[in-house]
Amino acid sequence: MTGLFITLEGPEGAGKSTNREYLAERLRERGIEVQLTREPGGTPLAERIRELLLDPSDEKMAVDTELLLVFAARAQHIAEVIRPALERGAVVLCDRFTDATYAYQGGGRGLPVERIARLESFVQGGLRPDLTLVFDLPVEIGLSRAAARGRLDRFEQEGRGFFEAVRNTYLDRAHADPARYHILDAAQSLAEVQRDLDKLLPALLERLNG
Ligand code: TMP
Repeated sequence: MTGLFITLEGPEGAGKSTNREYLAERLRERGIEVQLTREPGGTPLAERIRELLLDPSDEKMAVDTELLLVFAARAQHIAEVIRPALERGAVVLCDRFTDATYAYQGGGRGLPVERIARLESFVQGGLRPDLTLVFDLPVEIGLSRAAARGRLDRFEQEGRGFFEAVRNTYLDRAHADPARYHILDAAQSLAEVQRDLDKLLPALLERLNG
C-alpha cells in the first residue's frame, strides 16, 4: 500500500473534526488526495452500527457486544474505504480507530487488552495507522464542551472516572510508541493547535513521497 494512514484520537470535545478539516485542506492544496472518514462508521452499513453503539435508549449493551460491534463496523470500513484509499495512494484521515477501542472498551470499560489485541489482528491483519495524533485534553474541559453540544450519546453519559481511564490509556499508548504517536495539547487555542499541526506537515509529506 502506498498511501498514508493517519488517525485522530482524543476525548469528546478535543477539536478532532475541526483539525481534521484543517489538515485535509493543507494536504489538498498540495494536490494530495485525502480520504476523510471516521469510526465507528465510514460506510452506510458501518454508520448503522454506529447508531446502535451511540443510541442511549437501547437496552443495556453487554461490553463484549459493544466490542464486537466496534470491530464489525471496522471490518466493513477497512474493506470498503480504508484499504482501497491507501491502495490509490491517498492520505486517509480517520477520526478515531482502534486506539479508541483500547481507550474506551479497554480503559473505560475494563476489557482485557489481550481480547482487543486478538480482534485487532483478526480484523486488521497487519494494518496499523502510520501516524496517530492524540488530541489531549483535561477531562473536565472535554466533558463541558461535549455537554454544550446538546444531547449526550451513550458514551458521553459515562462518568468522570470512565473518561480519566480513557485519557490515561491514550497517553500510555502514545508514550509507549513515540514513533507512531504525536500528542497535541488540545487545551490550547485552535490557532496554537493548528500551528503544531503545521510543524508536522513536512515530515508527513516526506513519508508520503518516500
Ligand atoms: P465521536 O466519533 O463522535 O467522538 O463518537 C464516537 C464514540 O464512540 C466516542 O464516544 C468513542 C466511541 N468509540 C468506542 O468506544 N470505541 C471505538 O473503537 C471507537 C472507534 C469509538
